Amino acid sequence: MITPVLLCGGSGTRLWPVSRKSYPKQFSQLVGPLSLFQASAERLSGPGFGAPVILTGDPFRFIVTEQLARIEQAPRAILIEPDGRNTAPAILAAALWLARDDPGALMLVAPSDHVIPDPGAFRAAIEGGASQAAAGRIVTFGIIPTRPDTGYGYLELEPGARIDADTPQPLAGFVEKPDAAHAARMLQDGRFLWNAGIFLLRADTAIDAFRTHAPALHEAVAASVAAARSDLGFTRLDPGAWDAVEDISIDYAIMEKARDLVVMPYPHGWDDLGSWDAVWNAGGPDDLGNVCSDRTHAIDCHGTLLRSEAEGTELVGIGLQDIIAVAMPDAVLVAHKSQAQRVKEAVTAMTARG
Ligand code: GDD
Ligand code: MG
Repeated sequence: MITPVLLCGGSGTRLWPVSRKSYPKQFSQLVGPLSLFQASAERLSGPGFGAPVILTGDPFRFIVTEQLARIEQAPRAILIEPDGRNTAPAILAAALWLARDDPGALMLVAPSDHVIPDPGAFRAAIEGGASQAAAGRIVTFGIIPTRPDTGYGYLELEPGARIDADTPQPLAGFVEKPDAAHAARMLQDGRFLWNAGIFLLRADTAIDAFRTHAPALHEAVAASVAAARSDLGFTRLDPGAWDAVEDISIDYAIMEKARDLVVMPYPHGWDDLGSWDAVWNAGGPDDLGNVCSDRTHAIDCHGTLLRSEAEGTELVGIGLQDIIAVAMPDAVLVAHKSQAQRVKEAVTAMTARG
């Protein structure tokens, strides 16, 4: 049985004004009828999967319980991090928590900001990697890269190897978020895949990797898990011990250093919904390339995203090309699609202004 470990503590500022500090993107319905978090939980349920362990922050705990109840899922545990210290401490906390009952527990660590259009193919890929993980390897999931993106991790196959879809392959290395020149070289080489940010491994494999590559982090997180306390159905990690926990992602803390990494190349569709151009793409543009929500009207528009979440507010676009327009009750974003990554700058500026 595989236990999904769902990470949903991030903030997602590039999807402002839908994604907010108090209600980040993973809990919003960006594509389809479910939130990204609900879609992740649903995708990792059914035969072969146990109830999920959720990692989140205190402000989101009731959003998590409410959204899971709506898809009729009961979590195995909701672990509350005293504050967000990125993915490495969260994943280690889940591994230590699961290892109390079963050190060999297989965990499927998944972010909650992805769109995976074929859940059946994805579950088959996970099954295909399970024996490798059970044997003590860390199984990653690899996406065939299409551009020299610097926002992803890159998985390097062994010299001479070629990408073999749906077949676990050993890795020679892992490069997290390279600079542009390095990304371009890796894209050209043909031996690299994007890291999907999804990992399949045993709890004790994770714990051993942290002991080896990040011993101080291991010690602090272990103390925080050991002193965790139950609170109305939530498990609160101990804040005192958490103070000493380093803020670092799993990719830098473990993946760049670990041996025994394996990749399952996954060619069946995957998208990181990091910014509005990705939402436009995943939203299934119509014949003119537009993605329009309720309460919007596009006249002579092309390649444009119109979205209104403001009750009673109609959003009209006329003669627009490659524009993102998003209306919320208290904020409106209008941007050129090519500038979608820069929404973060606006959020930083507004935060500084207070
Ligand atoms: N619980 C918890 N606590 N979750 C967190 C925290 C935290 O402190 N920080 C981030 N997360 C969650 C986010 O909500 C998201 O679902 C997931 O962990 C990944 O974090 P991101 O911040 O979105 O990572 P990234 O996109 O920059 O990079 C990762 O994903 C890429 C693929 O999308 C890396 O694994 C890259 O190597 C990978 O290519
Ligand atoms: Mg991400």
